[in-house]
Amino acid sequence: MKGKFITLEGGEGCGKSTQARLLSAYLQNKGIEVITTKEPGGTPEGKILRELLVTGDKDKFDAIAECLLYYADRRCHLTKLVWPAMDEGKWVISDRYADSTEAYQYYGYNKRVEHQILENMYQIVAGDFKPDLTLILDIDPEVGMRRSFAKAEAMEVKELRFESRQLEFHKNLRQGFLEIAKREPERCIVLNADTTVEDLHHEIVRVVNEKLGIE
Ligand SMILES: Nc1ncnc2c1ncn2[C@@H]1O[C@H](COP(=O)(O)OP(=O)(O)OP(=O)(O)O)[C@@H](O)[C@H]1O
Ligand SMILES: [Mg+2]
Repeated sequence: MKGKFITLEGGEGCGKSTQARLLSAYLQNKGIEVITTKEPGGTPEGKILRELLVTGDKDKFDAIAECLLYYADRRCHLTKLVWPAMDEGKWVISDRYADSTEAYQYYGYNKRVEHQILENMYQIVAGDFKPDLTLILDIDPEVGMRRSFAKAEAMEVKELRFESRQLEFHKNLRQGFLEIAKREPERCIVLNADTTVEDLHHEIVRVVNEKLGIE
């Protein structure tokens, strides 16, 4: 595939959506065609799955059912949007991807799904395909959640299924992202997200240039 695939990962309120927008604008300025997307819900089919996943009772699905829904969304996303765009030479920036599934479903919930099951699902859905670069925006969950709640209140959003979980869950989640980065240091770069929007954007631009060589 000719294009690149960059994923933004991290807990709630770390700044993924904000930084995805800024990075997209930066790359477009450099003459690169960019698509900004997200998981879950990056396609019309995925939007239906997202609705199931982000609303309602936090325990409504068992672990495997929940993972399968995320992977169904991922399959739609890859086949209908990510891969075709990359084939055309476009760069795709995704606000969350498979590391979020692993961090939430495996680390967040104290390993309630076997790791091998998640790996198998990934293989079925994506094969050997991996992001070219993953930016993990690391932040104390209390700071991130405060940002998230403020945003949710301002926008009256109802997508609070994960935000409503205990702080312990979010601490596990943060450790999970750091474990993933330790396992795949070439692909995953951890950045301190407890800084200004501008400073984080400059760090991201530096890493993207270093890893993917734009300039
Ligand atoms: N560096 C920052 N400093 C302070 N506030 C920030 C920063 N980055 C983003 N915010 C604000 O915090 C809130 C959450 O940011 P954003 O939506 O980008 O995070 P997110 O990681 O996408 O969150 P979620 O996981 O809930 O989608 C927004 O209101 C945003 O304006
Ligand atoms: Mg977001």
